[in-house]
Amino acid sequence: MDKLYKVMTYGCQMNVHESEKIAGILEELGYKEAGDTIPDIYVFNTCCIRDTAEKHIFGNLGVVKTEKKNKKDMIVAVVGCMTQQAGYDALLKQKYPYVDIVLGTRNLDQLKEAIFNVLESRKKEKKYKYMSQEMVQDYLETDDKIPVTRTSYPNAWVNIIYGCNNFCTYCIVPYVRGRELSRPMDAIVDEVRRCLDEGYKEITLLGQNVNSYGNDLKDGHTNFANLLKEVGTLDYDFRLRFMTNHPKDLTEDVVEAMASSKRICNNIHLPVQSGSNKVLKDMNRHYTREKYFSLIEMLRKAMPDIGITSDIMVGFPTETEEDFKDTMDLVEQVRYSNAFTFIYSPRQGTPAAAMEQIPYEIKKRRIGELIKLQNKITKELSNDYVGNVYRVLAEDVAPKLEGMVCGRTESGRLVNFGGTKEDVGTFFNVRIEQSKSASLFGKKE
Ligand code: 5AD
Ligand code: SF4
Repeated sequence: MDKLYKVMTYGCQMNVHESEKIAGILEELGYKEAGDTIPDIYVFNTCCIRDTAEKHIFGNLGVVKTEKKNKKDMIVAVVGCMTQQAGYDALLKQKYPYVDIVLGTRNLDQLKEAIFNVLESRKKEKKYKYMSQEMVQDYLETDDKIPVTRTSYPNAWVNIIYGCNNFCTYCIVPYVRGRELSRPMDAIVDEVRRCLDEGYKEITLLGQNVNSYGNDLKDGHTNFANLLKEVGTLDYDFRLRFMTNHPKDLTEDVVEAMASSKRICNNIHLPVQSGSNKVLKDMNRHYTREKYFSLIEMLRKAMPDIGITSDIMVGFPTETEEDFKDTMDLVEQVRYSNAFTFIYSPRQGTPAAAMEQIPYEIKKRRIGELIKLQNKITKELSNDYVGNVYRVLAEDVAPKLEGMVCGRTESGRLVNFGGTKEDVGTFFNVRIEQSKSASLFGKKE
């Protein structure tokens, strides 16, 4: 009988794509995706950006403990961001003795060897745990050789830069993902071409900060604008998206490259985090609200129909009621098509975690007000779509809506429209008939 695997993915798109690499490695070893059955190997691809992510993972690891009691030869692996935090290897050793493999963010290539070692040691009935969390420097070479089982057709994720050098004072990412490492441009273009040859219709370039792509290579040519120009002119019918951006590094060249390519979507995720200059400074973000407004203006001037989304945080330790009002005011002025809103969560080892914290009730009230405001704006902007026709890529069958598929406009708006599984991967002109808060409903023309 086939050996089965299950990858549990938490966190960002970077992790979603890394799970495709984990699946690639496991399938090469002969494992098959388990679906709803209890697998022979679980891989937890973890996140630690907020406390809620960690709680969720530990809860699910507890469930696996029970499953493993009935399936003694099951292998449990915990990989990625969470494992990289100070003290977590000791924690995983002591509190989760049934975890067999622990691999850090730059050690995925060792998964095969780790499984082999676990199986060998079991034959000898030896107690064994494979652990490796070294921030290796030659990561790009090993990573390039990992097979990928893509799971998000018609979209293909393509990494362009790993790690982060920014050290925003609230953020754990630079500690768990290490310093920036950019992939060479030709390796990226080759991968994009392969995906397009295989029939993928949308490419999403990934990085913690795509705008600093190439800085570490220091060759005078490799930068994000040039990469966009190169990928954006490949002669296929496809869409190009990218995430995530940092306002301090977004340049005019990038905006020009976006505006001049018909393949690059008029859509940008530009996290602002806060609308208060004082809080932005305390967060070590290196821009002001005025600078942010000027970026929005530049983007809208170049692409009047651009969809702009954001990440916004409330409850940063130094955020006063005035500062929060500045955030609300910025949100009213920018009019994001959508925003991810977060309550600040202290992360051990980051500068902001050592500051005096704001009571939870205040954070909760602020996030409530922010969500209410953004929902109102999202709804108003959705109404503007009604009656018009947009090119939409059918991305999947619509969950819970029989006879419908879902996809997005170039600006990133979610649209549900009549269709079947066979439509997935095809572009359609869709007339929008109705809007319901963030999603739109339409009909193929
Ligand atoms: N608490 C809450 N939200 C956070 N983010 C990053 N770190 C934290 C934290 N400690 C948010 C930021 C970032 C998004 C991916 O997660 O808004 O842009
Ligand atoms: Fe975290 Fe800031 Fe780096 Fe984004 S840019 S990953 S928020 S440190």
